[in-house]
Amino acid sequence: MTRKYKIAFMPGDGIGVDVLAAAKVVLDVSDFNAEIIPLDIGFTIFEKEGEPLPERTIEGLKECDAAFFGAITSKPRTDPDVQRIERKYGTIYRSPIVRLRQIFDLYSNMRPSKSYEGNPLNFRKIDGSIPMIDIVTFRENTEGLYSGIEFDSLIPELKVLPKFKEFQHRTGAEDSDIRISCRVFTRNGCERIIRKAFEYAEITKRNKVTVVHKANVIRATDGMFLEIAKKVAEEYPEVKWWDENIDATAMWLMKRPEEYSVIVSTNMFGDIITDQAAMLTGGLGFAASASTSNDFGVFEPNHGSAPKYAGQNKVNPIAALKSMGLMWEWLGETELADKLEMAISQNIKEGKIKTYDMGGTSSTTDVAKDIAQKFTTD
Ligand code: NAI
Ligand code: MG
Repeated sequence: MTRKYKIAFMPGDGIGVDVLAAAKVVLDVSDFNAEIIPLDIGFTIFEKEGEPLPERTIEGLKECDAAFFGAITSKPRTDPDVQRIERKYGTIYRSPIVRLRQIFDLYSNMRPSKSYEGNPLNFRKIDGSIPMIDIVTFRENTEGLYSGIEFDSLIPELKVLPKFKEFQHRTGAEDSDIRISCRVFTRNGCERIIRKAFEYAEITKRNKVTVVHKANVIRATDGMFLEIAKKVAEEYPEVKWWDENIDATAMWLMKRPEEYSVIVSTNMFGDIITDQAAMLTGGLGFAASASTSNDFGVFEPNHGSAPKYAGQNKVNPIAALKSMGLMWEWLGETELADKLEMAISQNIKEGKIKTYDMGGTSSTTDVAKDIAQKFTTD
């Protein structure tokens, strides 16, 4: 018997509710020994209380071993709903996802992209062949272009730099015509995500890492990222590794995706690569992620709340189920994770009970029940 875990359960908005209910069907037939603690997050709660990430949720999460998360609806600052709610409560909307990453220092965003035998959505190359893809990407999740340090015009501190003078001279830009988003890298921030990828490659015996950057152009930041990768790689002599420019990776992912195993990259590049890799392996209905610090993790499908399908019991629950599998794996419950992975592959291979995105007519719950049944009979 495993120890009793405390797991936060955060469906959020829209189809987040549908897919987490589906995952619960499998959770309930498993012998995962956990206290499930429902917590509020997202737009619905923002509408009700003026806060998308209530303090009680943050406090609740601190008591938990991990969080299982569905999806949220988020809207831009200019949206009339956002403005109305902000006025009503005298608050400012802040992304609860970004806040979660910051509060819990969830620096590692791990996203597997894997082809399943028999998946009608598998990528076909130009020559008609279907590559079997099995890529795990580690994306830095707390810094880089997402640092949030931005300027709406050229500030005096930066104006003194000769490069800006040159730049303005060439383009004729006024100070107020210039906007700056800072790409902030720290040595520790780079090192910990690179180490995570190499460690994972070694433990899983994948023994292959691709470091993705644009160090020839973005020298200060990506130059440091690559330099650190070289150092870290020395500690993992079993792991074969190489580095690539992001644009080359975009091309090679279409041409020879089967050659990648573990990829590590920075925040923005990692975001882009993982969407591309998701489309090569079935799309949003299959893309799962693990955002972790050294002692906490949030596990969620990559898709959003898909409002047009909300509450219809229609969307694919596999991304959410795979996220639950990642949670089990991270908690060390590998037997459960392996069994779930087997049940998912069997469901896809049989191709009988599937949702609309795979060309089927089954409901979210039907797919979950089929996978639950395979999970228990394995
Ligand atoms: P989305 O991921 O919610 O949906 C885009 C489309 O992908 C859907 O209309 C549907 O056709 C398909 N899709 C998504 N999940 C699917 C599934 N499980 N099975 C089958 N098909 C699926 O992205 P969209 O429409 O851009 O955003 C909707 C809302 O979600 C927005 O408010 C956005 O801000 C939010 N969002 C939240 C995320 C999160 O909570 N992590 C991530 C992305 C978007
Ligand atoms: Mg994305």
